[in-house]
Amino acid sequence: MDILDLIRCPSCGGPLHPETGCPGPGSLRCAAGHTFDVSKQGYVNLLPPGRASNQRSGDEAEMLRARRRFLSGGYYDRFSETVSEMAGDISGETVLFDLGSGDGYHTVRAAVNISQKHGCRVLALGFEASKNGAAMGCRLAEELGLHSRKLFECPGNAGTEVHFLPANIFRLPAADRCAGLVLSMFAPIPWDEAGRVLLPGGKLIAVSAGPDHLIEMRKVLYDRVETNDFLPEAPAGFRPAGRVSDRYTISVGNPGALGDLLKMTPHYYRATAENRERLLRKDGMELTVDVNCTVFELEG
Ligand SMILES: C[S@@+](CC[C@H](N)C(=O)[O-])C[C@H]1O[C@@H](n2cnc3c(N)ncnc32)[C@H](O)[C@@H]1O
Ligand SMILES: [Zn+2]
Repeated sequence: MDILDLIRCPSCGGPLHPETGCPGPGSLRCAAGHTFDVSKQGYVNLLPPGRASNQRSGDEAEMLRARRRFLSGGYYDRFSETVSEMAGDISGETVLFDLGSGDGYHTVRAAVNISQKHGCRVLALGFEASKNGAAMGCRLAEELGLHSRKLFECPGNAGTEVHFLPANIFRLPAADRCAGLVLSMFAPIPWDEAGRVLLPGGKLIAVSAGPDHLIEMRKVLYDRVETNDFLPEAPAGFRPAGRVSDRYTISVGNPGALGDLLKMTPHYYRATAENRERLLRKDGMELTVDVNCTVFELEG
């Protein structure tokens, strides 16, 4: 199994093949003649054509950099470990799709953890609206020897590989029935597309915020704090197959991590400038992490 078995043309849905004889990192082409260049970081932009859809460019570059700096502090590393435990029994090889992969930090960690825990090869694809996010993911995976800038000269068909593709997860440029695992971490869940790409018996693992997630921060940012649970509800065809609720406290220093955390959440836009400043005047905070990892199995 390699990446070309998994991705599809975003215009017509056809398989993609490398164009021969072109200079640079290369390009892909479908039978209908739609072509897609491999970028210098080694991703192929599979966002659907048309300005409107491409304007939905996802997190801005600075929000993504803030996300990467914060995540690299290890505060949320437990999630990818939980995900690999909830993946169930895997032998041989599995295909993992991370939908809304952001800067790719969790995608890479989940692929490595699953591969080590289950002793299997993981072929992981992160689909993300932001080209910046896909580029950051490619660079991280390349540093770990899991990805090559020359997309089709990857570490080889024996080892775990991680690739990133700018794409709209609600129009996933991916083959039917090819993935054993679909991951959704703090991102919208495209249930129809997940149901289409998963193999029968495949699992969708959703990581979502619980009611008290970062509650201390939200109390500084808002006069009235909503304590919503963002537990996903699965449509027919998916069977709930387990949930782990994780709750712990993190010490987040300032300047640095607290500002990064603010920037990577929607609160950065939603809170008033005055309340954001009130938060950033703090030396640091003890914050509650409250998340749910929920598994859904696609019925066969
Ligand atoms: C809150 S971030 C989470 C990123 C990453 N999963 C993590 O946990 O670090 C949500 C991500 O979903 C992406 N996203 C939202 N809607 C999308 C869509 N329709 N297609 C592709 N990506 C999308 C955003 O660009 C953003 O990077
Ligand atoms: Zn095409």
